[in-house]
Amino acid sequence: MARVKAIGILTSGGDSPGMNAAIRAITRSAICQGFKVFGIYRGYDGLINDEIKPFTSENVSNIIQRGGTILKSARSKAFTTPEGRKKAYENMQAHGIDALIVIGGNGSLTGARIFAEEFDVPCIGLPGTIDNDLYGTDLTIGYDTTLNTIVQCVDKIRDTANSHERIFLVEVMGRDAGFLAQNSALASGAEAAIIPEDSTDADQLEHFIGRGIRKSKNSSIVIVSESPKCGALYYAERVRKEYPQYDVRVSILGHLQRGGSPSARDRILASRLGAGAIDAILDGQRNVMIGIRNDIVVYVPFSDAIKKEKPIDKSLIKVLDELSI
Ligand code: F6P
Repeated sequence: MARVKAIGILTSGGDSPGMNAAIRAITRSAICQGFKVFGIYRGYDGLINDEIKPFTSENVSNIIQRGGTILKSARSKAFTTPEGRKKAYENMQAHGIDALIVIGGNGSLTGARIFAEEFDVPCIGLPGTIDNDLYGTDLTIGYDTTLNTIVQCVDKIRDTANSHERIFLVEVMGRDAGFLAQNSALASGAEAAIIPEDSTDADQLEHFIGRGIRKSKNSSIVIVSESPKCGALYYAERVRKEYPQYDVRVSILGHLQRGGSPSARDRILASRLGAGAIDAILDGQRNVMIGIRNDIVVYVPFSDAIKKEKPIDKSLIKVLDELSI
């Protein structure tokens, strides 16, 4: 296997706080180890459209504290086509880039996996998503910051919930995963979380109301995972019809959850994973995601990270039930 000389970095999919800290860590570790570094703008689209610039240590100065991604991000349609990927490979060759580091979620790492197999390019992934839904890593970059943002919002919503004696349904992101909903509910002292992982069990709204929470409290907060069919608006409608005695309101937190300065925990995670990506290249690793498990940096094959389901700890549902009496 030829020795890697130049590394391209891109961020792809939904941005997440801490992506900049990861870009900084990769760039500086790579430079320390004698690699050339290229920043690729707008995700895979930038690789296809040749938006590629050499990076020095200065390019990543003063970014560790910034949310979003200085490289911009995109969900590339073109990269899902063989023609798009061929163009991307040609541009990599033209710049002499012989390894790619992709910071992103499930879809982005799936793209990296296909590309790596098609063109025999070493690709390393970093888990960058607020959803925390990648198998093989305890945490993903951005999750902790978003969790804290949600908790700050719920603390504020609680004032109105209390003053007006209302049920508040707070909708949070997470795509198909309930990590943000479940853990923000625990951290904010909410009465319940309605999460996709629990949807096969008894009706979650009935369960929540059935516990008679309103008999002992004058307000309640329920965190609801986003869902095209049964998000917070759906449950609010049901409360209005099925339990008209309750005054219900909805708060959809939306993209404010993805913004803001990364927490210390996300900055440390991103820094360790970024340095780990360069170690992986030096180790001759390819087509793996760098994760962190039990505080140890690990290499997770793309196939596992993407395909295996990361289970939510269902015992937390019971804890939440018990703590909200
Ligand atoms: O994957 C991150 C995420 O924020 C999900 O939680 C959410 O479903 C999705 O991205 C929203 O994507 P967009 O910003 O493209 O609307």
